[in-house]
Amino acid sequence: MELLLVDACPRGEASRTRRLAEGLLRSLRERLPGIAVTRHTLAEMELRDVNAERLALRESLCDARAWDHPLTRTGADFRRADAVIVAAPYWDLSFPSVLKTWVEHIWIRNLTFVYRDDLPVGLARGKAAVYVTTAGSRVAGHDWGTLYIEDVMHTLGIPEFRAVKAEALDLDGSDPEAILAAAARDAEDAAAWLADRLCPPLPDPRPSQNGGLSS
Ligand SMILES: Cc1cc2nc3c(=O)[nH]c(=O)nc-3n(C[C@H](O)[C@H](O)[C@H](O)COP(=O)(O)O)c2cc1C
Repeated sequence: MELLLVDACPRGEASRTRRLAEGLLRSLRERLPGIAVTRHTLAEMELRDVNAERLALRESLCDARAWDHPLTRTGADFRRADAVIVAAPYWDLSFPSVLKTWVEHIWIRNLTFVYRDDLPVGLARGKAAVYVTTAGSRVAGHDWGTLYIEDVMHTLGIPEFRAVKAEALDLDGSDPEAILAAAARDAEDAAAWLADRLCPPLPDPRPSQNGGLSS
């Protein structure tokens, strides 16, 4: 069983979003000790933006189903993962641009989606995804980052989605550590939710009180 952790937190060690995501991962590992973790730490991957030349090359790789090339390997990791955690701070109404570049690297024809009847059909194997984000202010109806990542996950074939958020961290008079502590508890819930989707609890083998017969 494999989890993909996508770290789109440019502030690295100082990032509160990363701290929340690592807590979620720790809770998940306590529940599923055998889980393998692949990391896409975007600050280290240096994914390149698509340009005309790389776009043409990528199309030929998609036709040839060449999934071990630097332009398609990121998508292959995404397709293979049983679950995905994406961590990104709220920047400029969504998230840092490096996360959009990552999305362009996982959106790979014949690997993570195909067109059927002119519509994209997702091919990712994942059962569930969690988006972890933190924001300086109250985001309210402007959470384009979460909505966008949810749509990406669904379109590429991951059916279930949940977000863990800590907002208003930078407002005068707010108590960031208290807000983060509440979000950390939500992250623990999200870990339990993810574990249930990866390893659904077995049905209770005991017969029901009426012997399983309907009255
Ligand atoms: C470049 C940049 C852009 C930001 N844009 C917003 C924004 O549009 N709205 C907001 O509420 N906070 C914004 N913030 C504040 C961050 O969302 C907030 O500090 C967040 O907790 C940072 O996460 P981190 O600790 O993981 O880096 C921005 C911060 C930076 C550095």
